[in-house]
Amino acid sequence: MAVKKASEAVLRGLAEEVQKWGCMKQTGVSLRYMMEFGSNPNPRNLMIAAQFLHKELPIRIARRAIELDSLPFGLSQKPAVLKVRDWYLESFHDLRCFPEIKDSYDELAFTSMIKMIKVRHNHVVPTMALGVQQLKKDLNPRILSRDLGEIHEFLNRFYMTRIGIRMLIGQHVALHDPNPEPGCVGQINTKLAPMLLAEHAAEDARAICMREYGSAPEVIIYGDPSFTFPYVPSHLHLMMFELVKNSLRAVQERYMNSDKVAPPIRIIVADGIEDVTIKISDEGGGIARRGLPKIFTYLYSTAKNLVDENYNHEATADRVIMAGYGCGLPISRLYARYFGGDLQIISMEGYEYPFIFSLMAMGMELMLTFTYHVWEIRKNVCHDFHDCLVHYQNWKNQAIILMQVGGSTFEAN
Ligand SMILES: Nc1ncnc2c1ncn2[C@@H]1O[C@H](COP(=O)(O)OP(=O)(O)O)[C@@H](O)[C@H]1O
Ligand SMILES: [Mg+2]
Repeated sequence: MAVKKASEAVLRGLAEEVQKWGCMKQTGVSLRYMMEFGSNPNPRNLMIAAQFLHKELPIRIARRAIELDSLPFGLSQKPAVLKVRDWYLESFHDLRCFPEIKDSYDELAFTSMIKMIKVRHNHVVPTMALGVQQLKKDLNPRILSRDLGEIHEFLNRFYMTRIGIRMLIGQHVALHDPNPEPGCVGQINTKLAPMLLAEHAAEDARAICMREYGSAPEVIIYGDPSFTFPYVPSHLHLMMFELVKNSLRAVQERYMNSDKVAPPIRIIVADGIEDVTIKISDEGGGIARRGLPKIFTYLYSTAKNLVDENYNHEATADRVIMAGYGCGLPISRLYARYFGGDLQIISMEGYEYPFIFSLMAMGMELMLTFTYHVWEIRKNVCHDFHDCLVHYQNWKNQAIILMQVGGSTFEAN
C-alpha cells in the first residue's frame, strides 16, 4: 500500500513537472549553427551544447507527452500510444533527474544518457502507426472518412518535432566520434554522394522485398557518381528506402503472376545549382484516382492491415516491413520538408508511377534551406519549369510526359 502511495505521488509529481516544462518556450537551432558549432567540437563547446540540451530536451519532450495524452477519438488510450507516451515520460524523467553539467565528466555521462534516450524512441513511428491502426479498426467508418484531420495534423507535428529532437541528440552524440568520416560534421555529411546512398537504400529495400515475395525487381540509378552535396545521410536513406520499397511492392505485385519480366525501377539523381532533385519512377500501375487524396495521410495503406486479434506490437514494431503502416509517404515528406525540400507525386494510373522529391543543396545564403518546386506544373510556374528544363536536360521527355498527365497547356518559353 505504502509503495502504491509512493508511486502515485511520484507519478503526480512527474505529471506536474511535465505540465510546467511543457509550457516553457522551446529554442530553435538552425542547421547553419549546428554546422558552425560542430566544426569545432572542443570540450568547452561540447559542454555548452550539453548544458543547452539539458534544458531544451525536457521542454520538447514534455510538450509531446502532453499532446499524446489528449488525442481525439480515444487515440490516447490505445495500448500502443500509451506505450509511446510512457517512453516520453521516462525520457523526461531521466533528463530532469540528471544533475547540473559542470565538467567534461558530467558532459560524457549526459551524452551517454541522451544516446540511450534516442535508442528508447527508435520504434516510435511503427508503434504510433499500430496505435492509429488500432483506432482505425475500432472507429465508426463515418468518422473515419469525415474528420480525422485533427489526428493527421497532430501526427505531422509530432513526427516533425521528433525529427528535430533526434537531430539535436544525434548531432551531439556524433560530435564525440573520435574518427569522423572526412567531410562529416556530426551527422551532417558535407560531401554526401546521393548516387551511392541511393544504391544502398535500394539494396536494403530489395532485401525486404526478397524476404516478402522471394524476388525483387531491378533498380537502375542514373546520375553523376562524383556529385556530392551536404545532407544528413540517415534522412536521405530513410526517404529513399521508403519510396523504393513502395515502388518495388507496386511492380512486384503487378508482375509476380505474369510471364513478363518486371520492368526496373528508375532513380534519377539530378544535381541542380541550388537544389538536388531525385526522381523515382516505376511501372507498377500507379494509384487509383480515389486513393490519391489520401496517400499523405497516416491512415491510408492498400497493404493488409497489421492489427489483428493476436498481434504482438512489440515484435511487429521491431521488424522492418514491406508495407502496411501507411506512414512511409507522409513521413518521407516530413523528412524532405525538414530541410526545406519537398516530396511530390504524380501518378499515371495504369501506366507509370513517377515519384519526385526534391532535396536541396547548400545555397549561398540560406544553408540547406532553399529549394524551388520545379514540378508544380499544374500551377504553371513558368520560370521554375524553365529552370527545370535548363538544369535537367536529361529529364525533358519525362517532364513533357508529366505535363501531359497534368493536363496543363503550359508552354516553356
Ligand atoms: N509506387 C507506388 N505505386 C502504387 N501505389 C503506391 C506507390 N507508393 C505508394 N502507393 C500507395 O500509397 C499507399 C501508402 O504508401 P505508404 O505511405 O508508403 O504506406 P504503406 O507502404 O505502408 O502502405 C500504399 O499502400 C499504396 O497503395
Ligand atoms: Mg510504404
